[in-house]
Amino acid sequence: MFGCSLCIPSGARHDGSTVSPHAYRGLTASAFSLPWRSAIGCGRGRALLHLAERFPNSEFVGYELSDEAIAYARGQGMKRGLSNIRFIPRNLTGFSETAETEVFDLVMAFDAIHDQVTPQSVLDGIYRTLKSGGTFMMQDIRASTYLENNLDHPIAPLLYTISTMHCMTVSLASNGAGLGTMWGEELAIEMLNTAGFSNIEIHQLEHDIQNNYYVMDKT
Ligand SMILES: C[S@@+](CC[C@H](N)C(=O)[O-])C[C@H]1O[C@@H](n2cnc3c(N)ncnc32)[C@H](O)[C@@H]1O
Repeated sequence: MFGCSLCIPSGARHDGSTVSPHAYRGLTASAFSLPWRSAIGCGRGRALLHLAERFPNSEFVGYELSDEAIAYARGQGMKRGLSNIRFIPRNLTGFSETAETEVFDLVMAFDAIHDQVTPQSVLDGIYRTLKSGGTFMMQDIRASTYLENNLDHPIAPLLYTISTMHCMTVSLASNGAGLGTMWGEELAIEMLNTAGFSNIEIHQLEHDIQNNYYVMDKT
C-alpha cells in the first residue's frame, strides 16, 4: 500500500482479497464476534475498509504514519458510507509507552512490523493494548532468520534485495533496529515472546508463498 510499494506481498492484490479470506477462514473466527479491531500501519486501509464493510456491527480503528494514506483511507470510508471505521494518523514508534491499555479485542498488522524503527516497542505496545484474551494477527514475510536456511527459498534474492534497498533502510535512517524484510520466523517468534505472547500459531495460504500469518492470543 501507500509508501511501501516495495514491501507489498507479490501474492497480495490491493483489494483486500488476500488477507480477508484468511481471516474469514477461521484463524480469527472467534474474534469476529467481538466489537473492536485495530490495524497497525494500515497504509491506505484497504483490508480494514473491506472488513468494516463485511462486519458492520464491529468497530475498526486504523493507525498509520502517513497523513496522505490516512486522508485516502478516510475518503474511501466516507465514499462507502462506513460509520464503523476510524483512521488515525499516529506514529507508533515507542508504542510500548503510548499504547492505550487493554482496549482492543483484535489487533492486525499486515506487513507492518519488520520495517519499524522500534519493532520491539510496537510489539510490546500491541500486547499492552490488547484486552486479556484478545488476538493478535501479524502477516509478515515467510523466511528463516538464517541465510543458510533460505537457499531454497524461491524468491529469497528478491526479498533480500528489497530488504537492503528499502525495508532496512527506512528503519536505519531513523537509527532504528533495521530488521528488514528477511528478519525471519525465528527472530519474529523471539520478539513476540519478548512482548509477552506465547502459543503462537503460524499459518500459510496456498496462494501466498511470501507470507506467514502469525496468530496468537494474549493470555
Ligand atoms: C509495508 S507497508 C504495509 C501497509 C499495509 N498494512 C499493507 O498491507 O499494504 C507498512 C506501513 O506501515 C506504516 N508505518 C511504518 N512505520 C510506522 C510507524 N512508526 N507508525 C505508524 N505507521 C507506520 C507505513 O507508513 C506503511 O503504510
